[in-house]
Amino acid sequence: MTSINVAIIGAGVVGKAFVNQIASIKSKITFNVIHLATSKKALVSQDYKPLDLSSGWESNLAAATQTPFSLEQLLEYLKKSPEPVILVDNTSNETIAKFYPQFVANGICIATPNKKAFSSDLNLWNNIFNDKIGAGLVYHEATVGAGLPIISTLHDLINTGDKVELIEGILSGSLSFILNTFSTVNPNNTKFSEIVSKAKTLGYLEPDPRDDLNGMDFARKVTILARIAGFKVESPSAFPITSLIPKPLESVPTGEEFMSKLPDYDSSFEQLKKEAADEGKVLRYVGKVDFPNKSVTVGFQKYDASHPFASLQGSDNVLAIKTERYQNPLIVQGAGAGAEVTAAGVLADVIKIAERL
Ligand SMILES: NC(=O)c1ccc[n+]([C@@H]2O[C@H](COP(=O)([O-])OP(=O)(O)OC[C@H]3O[C@@H](n4cnc5c(N)ncnc54)[C@H](OP(=O)(O)O)[C@@H]3O)[C@@H](O)[C@H]2O)c1
Repeated sequence: MTSINVAIIGAGVVGKAFVNQIASIKSKITFNVIHLATSKKALVSQDYKPLDLSSGWESNLAAATQTPFSLEQLLEYLKKSPEPVILVDNTSNETIAKFYPQFVANGICIATPNKKAFSSDLNLWNNIFNDKIGAGLVYHEATVGAGLPIISTLHDLINTGDKVELIEGILSGSLSFILNTFSTVNPNNTKFSEIVSKAKTLGYLEPDPRDDLNGMDFARKVTILARIAGFKVESPSAFPITSLIPKPLESVPTGEEFMSKLPDYDSSFEQLKKEAADEGKVLRYVGKVDFPNKSVTVGFQKYDASHPFASLQGSDNVLAIKTERYQNPLIVQGAGAGAEVTAAGVLADVIKIAERL
């Protein structure tokens, strides 16, 4: 039976679900978790024997007296592992992401939902995926659409010689919810600001909603897909992004003040919705990678009522990939966030890496 050592950083919403899933999976491969750390505490197996992940692991971690390793110390520890190692980064930390090249160069594999390494400078991407002999494998399915098979599908299409022509997707749960509720096939009168308020109450938005409404997180996901498909996108700010934040509200100091002033701009969103409705269409906020036109964009698009994006429900994500073979686009759709599905996306990557080792 093959044994793989797993080192986990991050035990938040996704990290907790991941630990519980890896502790209970039935697999031909034995996964031994040897390291589990947050930014303040760490459980580390000094002799590389598996940590106890039975039901009390959260209190064990909370009671741990060891402070986390620095990244350099973690690398040294992992290099000495008697079994191959997969590092699972369940944080959104940029410093850890920037350290991936060192892990990979030393044969450490990585599975992660952290977008930072793949959507920052193109140099970092190139340093991670450098194809050097002995380099660790890096899988990051959950960086786009959580557990949905988006990245693996795109890789399979490209690796089998298909030619991607157009990638179109709604890749933000919060913005999906807002537009799906605002612009419907049977027109409704709900105001844009009311829907943003509802999304906030439902916990779909960051504490300051502008962190979602600026489109940057969405643009990071589009950057990742564009790079996989062959576009050398320098960074998420290298292509046009339509922000959903009215210009005068960009600089108001707090999220609360932003929310209180947003109703003043309802009429401009209403106008966009009306323009779509006049053409018998709905308005959606979409990321597009368009090969014939050599363009990458994030912004508003209009769709006929019969288009799959028009009937999207709740906060679902959807991605349509049009290729030489799939002229009628291949569509992946479903929940694009949530602890269990995201953790499952990361765990599926861990299993795929282990199968290749
Ligand atoms: N939640 C979702 O539905 C979802 C969906 C898709 C992708 N993701 C991605 O999954 C990742 C995790 O998301 P989350 O919702 O689980 O976040 P979270 O609840 O904020 O948890 C983050 C965890 O990472 C730890 N952490 C942060 N910086 C660290 C550092 N420098 N060293 C060690 N540990 C550190 C935190 O520890 P402390 O508590 O000590 O700070 C915490 O345990 C993010 O990259 C996110 O974008 C999440």
